[in-house]
Amino acid sequence: MHYRNLIVSIFIVLIASFIVPAALSAENSCLNCHSKLSAFNETERLFNEIRVKHLARDVACSLDCHVNILEKFAKSNYEQWINSKHAMFNVTCNNCHGGDPGTEIKETAHKEVLRSSDPSSTVYYTNVPETCGKCHTEELKQFQSSSHYQKLKALKQAPTCDTCHQPHEFKVLNVSEFHGLCNNCHNIEMRIAPSDAPDKAIAALMNTDKLKEEIKNADNAIRQAKQEGKDVSKAQSSLDAALSIQANLPVLWHSFNLPNFENITNSGIKSAQQATLDTGVPIEKPRTPGFDVMLFLTGLASIYLLRRKR
Ligand code: HEC
Ligand code: HEC
Ligand code: HEC
Ligand code: HEC
Ligand code: HEC
Repeated sequence: MHYRNLIVSIFIVLIASFIVPAALSAENSCLNCHSKLSAFNETERLFNEIRVKHLARDVACSLDCHVNILEKFAKSNYEQWINSKHAMFNVTCNNCHGGDPGTEIKETAHKEVLRSSDPSSTVYYTNVPETCGKCHTEELKQFQSSSHYQKLKALKQAPTCDTCHQPHEFKVLNVSEFHGLCNNCHNIEMRIAPSDAPDKAIAALMNTDKLKEEIKNADNAIRQAKQEGKDVSKAQSSLDAALSIQANLPVLWHSFNLPNFENITNSGIKSAQQATLDTGVPIEKPRTPGFDVMLFLTGLASIYLLRRKR
């Protein structure tokens, strides 16, 4: 792990320990009680019934067909949460739902815990950004500048934090996972939102891979230059600039201002390339991977087409 990440992580653990002192002493009644519940919700109950029926009738596909869906639903909120980064960092139920984690009596513990369908609940969909934003302040700030947020607050169809970071794992979806999610609104039929936005957003995120690669190149070049006894201070400051841009991108993403996101990413790529140049270490030209394969396939295709024409 990069030492910067380590320091940030330690810092976050410290902050988390101030926010949730009760959790650290393991005296959190929400956790104590909910870990023993297997509170199936409606959907979970339904899938469980399907599973039980399949098993009872000894249907061959019983588990295979449904195993993925089952895995997704047939877990209590607690089980999903316990595998999340939030659990690792002691972000407990009461941090989002409120209530009193200091009592074992359900009714008192649930005081002020409101259902997500209640507009004054902390987990009502339009209130979610502020609930998450108590800790994720920078993401909230960026998100507030987005058209997603404006539409959300105007009670139009728009994503909120947990549309993309689903309860209760709250993980960061990768590009292939979230494309379908965006298409729920960004499609031609529904006209809720521009239909090409998801593709553009994915391209923008992919561009951050290029930044990562250029940073790696610069890092290698600097290491080599150092071994050769060269002064690398200029290169190092260009690399530092690229690194700080890279670190801020996941936060910046939440403004959903793609042209700006692209510009910033590109300026990071430039800084990293500059760092490599600054070292004076000759750049190895990377070969386009699979070029020979492409050439071969194009050849085959043209032979096939020529033969068909005759
Ligand atoms: C003594 C056991 C117990 C404790 C302590 C407890 N819960 Fe619950 N909780 C339950 C049960 C059982 C349910 C299922 C619904 C019901 O019976 O009210 C539930 C339901 C919920 C729900 C679903 C909303 C609802 O009203 O049905 C939320 C959210 C929730 N609990 C959060 C919390 C939080 C946050 C804490 C800690 C501050 C907590 N719970 C403490 C037992 C408990
Ligand atoms: C990081 C914030 C966060 C944490 C931590 C969290 N929840 Fe939730 N929870 C939510 C959000 C947001 C929703 C609303 C999801 C939705 O609208 O579909 C929700 C929904 C629920 C529901 C569905 C009931 C309803 O009102 O719709 C239950 C039950 C629940 N949470 C229990 C828990 C328990 C138990 C824990 C701790 C083990 C926990 N949650 C931890 C954010 C959180
Ligand atoms: C009490 C503080 C707190 C609250 C409230 C909170 N989080 Fe977090 N969240 C954290 C901490 C601490 C981490 C772990 C350190 C990190 O990755 O920044 C984290 C991590 C995350 C991650 C990264 C997970 C990963 O696998 O890398 C996501 C996504 C996330 N939170 C989303 C949310 C969402 C969505 C909400 C609201 C429903 C929320 N958080 C509410 C403190 C909080
Ligand atoms: C629940 C509906 C919904 C979902 C899901 C959704 N969006 Fe949106 N999106 C909107 C709405 C509404 C707008 C605002 C359109 C407008 O201003 O006319 C918007 C605007 C945008 C914009 C700004 C477009 C522009 O030209 O200003 C981007 C970029 C975007 N969305 C990307 C995404 C991505 C990426 C995802 C998936 C990770 C996603 N959206 C998921 C509803 C949604
Ligand atoms: C339309 C989808 C979408 C919405 C809405 C959304 N996020 Fe994210 N979030 C993502 C994606 C995609 C990433 C990964 C971005 C990247 O890798 O550059 C991410 C990354 C994160 C991270 C990890 C940041 C890091 O440093 O690695 C956190 C924390 C987070 N989001 C919290 C939130 C919070 C809080 C909200 C609401 C205020 C929110 N997200 C709304 C899609 C979304």
